[in-house]
Amino acid sequence: MSTRYYITTPIYYVNDRPHIGHCYTTVVADVAARYQRLFGRDVFFLTGTDEHADKVVTSGAEHGMTPTQWADRNAAAFQSAFADMNFSNDDFIRTTQERHKSKVLEYVGKLQKHGDVYLGEYQGWYDQSQDEYLTETVARESPHGAYTSPVTGKPLVKRSEKNYFFKLSKYEPMLRKHIEANPDFILPAARRNEVMGRLREGLQDVPLSRPITDDPASQWGIRVPGDNSQRIYVWIDALFNYLSAIDTPERRPFWPPAVHVMAKDILWFHAVIWPCMLMALGEPLPRTVYAHAYWVREGKKMSKSLGNFIDIDLLHAYIARYSRDAVRYYLIAQGPHDATDSDFAHGKFVEVYNADLANGIGNATSRVGNMIAKYFDGKCPDAKGNTGLAGHDWPSIIRTHVEGVIAKADSFDLPGALGDALKLVNRVDQYINITEPFKIAKKIEAEPARKDELAAILYHCAEALRVATLLLSPAIPEAAAKVFANWSCKAIDLAAGHALAHAALWGGHHSLQPGQAIAKGEPLFMRADPAEAAPVAAAAAPKA
Ligand code: MSP
Repeated sequence: MSTRYYITTPIYYVNDRPHIGHCYTTVVADVAARYQRLFGRDVFFLTGTDEHADKVVTSGAEHGMTPTQWADRNAAAFQSAFADMNFSNDDFIRTTQERHKSKVLEYVGKLQKHGDVYLGEYQGWYDQSQDEYLTETVARESPHGAYTSPVTGKPLVKRSEKNYFFKLSKYEPMLRKHIEANPDFILPAARRNEVMGRLREGLQDVPLSRPITDDPASQWGIRVPGDNSQRIYVWIDALFNYLSAIDTPERRPFWPPAVHVMAKDILWFHAVIWPCMLMALGEPLPRTVYAHAYWVREGKKMSKSLGNFIDIDLLHAYIARYSRDAVRYYLIAQGPHDATDSDFAHGKFVEVYNADLANGIGNATSRVGNMIAKYFDGKCPDAKGNTGLAGHDWPSIIRTHVEGVIAKADSFDLPGALGDALKLVNRVDQYINITEPFKIAKKIEAEPARKDELAAILYHCAEALRVATLLLSPAIPEAAAKVFANWSCKAIDLAAGHALAHAALWGGHHSLQPGQAIAKGEPLFMRADPAEAAPVAAAAAPKA
C-alpha cells in the first residue's frame, strides 16, 4: 500500500442538522484515518458540506435568510458537531467556496472539450426530496410504492427539461472492466453485487446541468461554462469536491483516494457516475468505494416525518453522560459497518460500554496501575529479561495482536480491528487470573524471592496494556492519552517515523522502562447501571 492515504466522507446536505448518520460515517473515516496515521502513512481526511441544493434557498427564505446566510449557519453547525465528536479531518470543504467553484468550472470545461457533454432533453422522473433523476425501473419499483422516492417515499415529479448530458454510456465497458478486475473497488461484497446487477441493465447518459428559470431556487448553483441559462446539477457539483479539495500542487500527490466512505443510499453516484466522470477526465480511480448500511431506531428507519432521528442533541447527551470516546467506540463497534442495518438501542449501548470500556480496558488499566502503586511504589517493575510466565510468550502475543489489528484496519474492518485490540486486554485479564499476582504479593514477606516473579507478571501486564491502549486509541483517543500520561509513556512522534510497528515493539524505544512512574489515575470509564434511563437531549436547539 502506498504511504499516502486519502479518505473522504460524503459532503452532507447543509440543509439538515447533523445526526447520527452523518456522525457515523465521519467517525468511521476518522478512526480509519487515525489508524493509518498510526501505521505511519501520510493521511488526508476530508469531509464537508454540499450547499447548492434548491432546498437551501427555500429553507433560508423561510427563516428570513439568504441562501448564503443559511448555508453559513448550518455548515457551522456541522463543523461544531464534528469538533465535538473529536474528528481529525484535515479539511472541511464547502461547495460554495471559491476554491471549489473555480475547479468545478475547470472540470466541466474539460469534459466539454473532450466531447463528453451534449445538450439534450430530459424526460422522466425526478426525486425532489433527494435532488436525483431516476430511471423508469427505479421509479416504478420504489419500495414505498410506484413513482415515489425510494428514499423518502415522497411522490416523484415528471420532468421534461433541457439539460446538458454527460456521456455516461460511453464509459460503461471501461467501468465494467474495472469493477471486474478490482474486487475491492466496491465494498462490501453485497453492494458490489448489487451494482453489477444494475449495470447489466445498461447505462444511460445522465444530466449534468439543470435549467435556470424564474424560480429563485433555480438561480442557486454554479453556471455551466458558456451557457448562462443552465447551472451544474448539484450532484455533479458535489462529487467534484473530492478532487477540488486536493487539487493544489502540495495536495495533488494524495490522488487517487484510498477510500470514499458513505452509506448505501448514494453508492450509485460514487461507484458508477463518479468513476466514469474521472475516466473522462483522465484521472486514476479511487481504490475503494465503501458503502455501509444504516442506523435504524427500534427497528424503524430514521426519518424527519417519524421524528425519530438520533440527532446531535441526543448524541451530546450521551457524550455528557458516558464521554465522547464511549460514543465513538459504540458507533464503530456496533454500527452498520457491513451490509446489515444496526439498531441504536440504549440497553445495548450500556452493555457494550460496561463490557468493553468500563470492565474492559478501563478496569484492566486501573487494576494493574493499582497493583504497581501498591507493591512497587508506583514505579514500573523490572521483568529482568523475563518475557512471560505460565506459558505466556508476551512478545509474540503482542506481535500477533498488532499484526491482526493492522491487517483488519487495512482491509477496512474497523470493528474487527477494535475487537482484536480488546482481545489483547482480555489476555491480560486471563493472565492475571492464572498467575494471581495479588496472592503472590501476600507471600513476599515469607518468600522474598517471589518479588521478581511479581515484578515480571506486572511488567508484562502493563506493557501489554500499553500496546492494547495504543491499538484502541483511534476509537478512544482521549482515554488512551490519559493512560499514556498516567504511565509516563514516551510520546509517539509520527513525524519521526514512530509508527505502530515501532511503538509497539517489545523492548523497543517506547516500551515501559523499569522505574518509570505508573500513576493509578482516575478510572477511565465509570461502570454504568444497566437499568439506568437513556440520556435525554437538552432543550431543543432551533431546528433546521
Ligand atoms: N449531499 C449528498 C452527498 C454528496 S457526496 C458527493 C448527501 N448528503 S446527506 O446529507 O444526505 O448524507 C448522506 C449520507 O449521510 C449517507 O450516505 C451516510 O453517509 C450518512 N447517513 C445518513 N443517514 C444515515 C443513517 N441512518 N445511517 C448511517 N448513515 C447515514 O447524500
